Amino acid sequence: MRTNSNKEVIVALDFASVEETFNFLALFTEALYVKVGMELYYQVGPEIIRKLKQLGHKIFLDLKLHDIPNTVKETMKSLGKLDLDLVNVHAMGGIEMMKAALNGLRSTNKNTKCIAVTALTSLSDAVLKRELLINRKLETTVLHYAQNAFNAGLDGVVCSPLEVQLIHRNLGEAFLTVTPGIRLDGDNVDDQVRVTTPVKAKIYGADYIVVGRSITRAIDPVSTYNKIKASFMRGDNDEN
Ligand code: C5P
Repeated sequence: MRTNSNKEVIVALDFASVEETFNFLALFTEALYVKVGMELYYQVGPEIIRKLKQLGHKIFLDLKLHDIPNTVKETMKSLGKLDLDLVNVHAMGGIEMMKAALNGLRSTNKNTKCIAVTALTSLSDAVLKRELLINRKLETTVLHYAQNAFNAGLDGVVCSPLEVQLIHRNLGEAFLTVTPGIRLDGDNVDDQVRVTTPVKAKIYGADYIVVGRSITRAIDPVSTYNKIKASFMRGDNDEN
């Protein structure tokens, strides 16, 4: 069953080593909601998940599975055993693949939420058309992929904050929107294209925001995290 979320800031642990990761986490006195991506997981594997859980952190494992349905199902079976909070697949894999993912996950775990990436926030309308030959408007594609994820029974999607309202309007407030592409005013956009600020993400109704470099590369990561959290949870307009 889909249930509505409490809003959360998820910190992307995009570090090159376990040591760097735990040095960063040691700056904080509280347990966080963290995202482990391919960069870290492919180096150290499930061991990093066990260590993070021991420290009380909630975990989004962002492996963006995209393969034939049976492979994704079997992979999700094993990820289910890690007792994660959130996992994901690429909606581009199709409805059968998403259903298989959920089937696999539910065979070993009843609680982990599963969401689908619609279009990466690093992609623009122009790139979708020119390189991927997707000629519809980006919002139309994102909404259609979100509908596929909904029909497959998934809990929500990863999308840009700019697409949250469209998705909630069409698929309901309980369908989770998890949004990377968050930057403070004046931050470097890096490789992201469809970006916005934490306050705007709150206004648009995003359930979770995923923030990496704005926090991990800040001079003071803890105060930047607290500022972003206050902006996103309470709408404090203190972004500079
Ligand atoms: O550093 P930054 O805040 O841009 O990090 C965003 C994080 O969210 C990265 O770990 C990236 O892999 C992830 N992500 C994304 N776009 C998606 C899905 C995940 O940027 N559509």
